[in-house]
Amino acid sequence: MSTPQPESTLRRALKGSKVLVKRHLQDIAPRETLRARRDHVAVTGAVPELDGIESAMAPHMDRLKPFHTDYCDRIGHPVHAASLELTALVLLLCERLNVQKVVDLGSGFTSWALRDWAKGRDVTVHSVDDSPEWLEKTRSYLAEQDLADERLHVWPEFAAAGFEGAFDLVVHDLGFMDTRFEVLDTVVGLARPGGLVLLDDMHKPDFRDKALAHLEAAGLTAYSLKRITRDRLTRFAYALPIPV
Ligand SMILES: C[S@@+](CC[C@H](N)C(=O)[O-])C[C@H]1O[C@@H](n2cnc3c(N)ncnc32)[C@H](O)[C@@H]1O
Repeated sequence: MSTPQPESTLRRALKGSKVLVKRHLQDIAPRETLRARRDHVAVTGAVPELDGIESAMAPHMDRLKPFHTDYCDRIGHPVHAASLELTALVLLLCERLNVQKVVDLGSGFTSWALRDWAKGRDVTVHSVDDSPEWLEKTRSYLAEQDLADERLHVWPEFAAAGFEGAFDLVVHDLGFMDTRFEVLDTVVGLARPGGLVLLDDMHKPDFRDKALAHLEAAGLTAYSLKRITRDRLTRFAYALPIPV
């Protein structure tokens, strides 16, 4: 005879299954699958440095993996930390685009990875969070890893600090999804003409649809990077090239 489960455990298990089913249905949505296929080719017209980048991501992912595991175990959480795929792509784009000024919005693992990569290079990294608590966690983690903890900002001050058009590369992974949409225009404005914005967590249809419609209305085209950034949690990013 099976032991009766406490109700809370059952409810948690059911909730977990519902989340998994929802994620799967979102992941196989035909419109997004088609867009991913089409954009995989189209994006290299807008950002030629993305051509063939997938195979170059593997060594970066292998190198980053133990750090990512440690970060997720001790500091963040796999659901919140940027994926290995996205982080590897960010570093490769920094290399291929000769990035000199980069900002990661939504601090954490990406803040470490960018600063680690920037060591000994003429590259300036800024990291921003809307949560002062998470920014301090990032600061402690960077200090623990012997990395400079300068240029860490809380969002409202950073947004008002005159960084418009200052960055070659902007990684938008800031806060919860409502915040992410609210700050979208300001975030896009941080990239210089000819620069690039990466939008993470575009697997979330509500945010994706709203963000894409908003960008399109502003005359901007974002491209799905699902084919190269989809992770085991079904998360993926989009690329938004900023016209010259
Ligand atoms: C998607 S996370 C940003 C992740 C970051 N780019 C990284 O690579 O770790 C978005 C926001 O969640 C918050 N956050 C980060 N880690 C978290 C955690 N483990 N639990 C709850 N919130 C977290 C931070 O305020 C951050 O701005």
